[in-house]
Amino acid sequence: MIHSKRLILADAQSKGYAVPAFNVHNLETLKAVLETAQDLRSPVMIAATPSTVRYMGKNFLIKMMEAAVKSYDFPVCFHLDHHENLDDIKNLIHMGVQSVMIDASHHSFEENIRIVREVVEYAAPFGVAVEAELGRLSGMEDDIEVDEKDQIYTNPKQAEEFVRRTGIDSLAVAIGTAHGLYKGEPKLDIDRLAVIQQEVDVPLVLHGASGLPDELVRETIDRGICKVNVATELKMAFVKGLRSYLQENPEANDPRYYFKDAVVQMKQVVAEKIKLCGSFNRG
Ligand code: 13P
Repeated sequence: MIHSKRLILADAQSKGYAVPAFNVHNLETLKAVLETAQDLRSPVMIAATPSTVRYMGKNFLIKMMEAAVKSYDFPVCFHLDHHENLDDIKNLIHMGVQSVMIDASHHSFEENIRIVREVVEYAAPFGVAVEAELGRLSGMEDDIEVDEKDQIYTNPKQAEEFVRRTGIDSLAVAIGTAHGLYKGEPKLDIDRLAVIQQEVDVPLVLHGASGLPDELVRETIDRGICKVNVATELKMAFVKGLRSYLQENPEANDPRYYFKDAVVQMKQVVAEKIKLCGSFNRG
């Protein structure tokens, strides 16, 4: 069932849980996410970064998503993750995406507002929800690497102004999470998140959830996080399953078989994240 991100996140916000958003890269990842979400009756978001759109081809990706969501009867929303190019975003909105993250967080505050506002205005007649980021996460996401020293935490006062002036539907916050795996023990500024939650009324988004201890993720959900983004852990599960299958079956050459363990491993991660987010039986 195709569902608007607005409604999915509004339900999560009002009931105090989070919706997991999984980055997908191929048919196997997509099926692992959707089949698990169906079993656990969880709303989910399926996310694709610009390089995934390039890798899969936008026509294939959109059609695959359309076909996939029609096959399930729980709330699913297809979301563009970390998109920066306005022409690409507009084109993909026309093609049917239901939710967009415009990432202009590397620009100045005013420029970030200007770019995000343009996307919000463009998306509005299509009913497409817009997420944007204020502050900057460290780590590697898509083709972009941000050094730890260049991360910028979200300023709560600016967050209020940013949400008000852009009209976004959800705000991605930088509170110490990082894309990819953590080098040391992750330390989150939970107090900052609590202040941001008081300042803004839109649902908050946590990027960089892979490798975060469960207690920390739960603390962020208690303080307003309504969407939890997971990419790296799913990729690691995929390759773990694939590697072990190929090690045990070195002669294997049929993808319908050698992807099986990869899907099993990914389903485990998806189920764990759904339980962690408290989104099961909400769909
Ligand atoms: P991880 O790769 O750390 O799970 O981050 C995912 C993410 O935030 C996608 O936007």
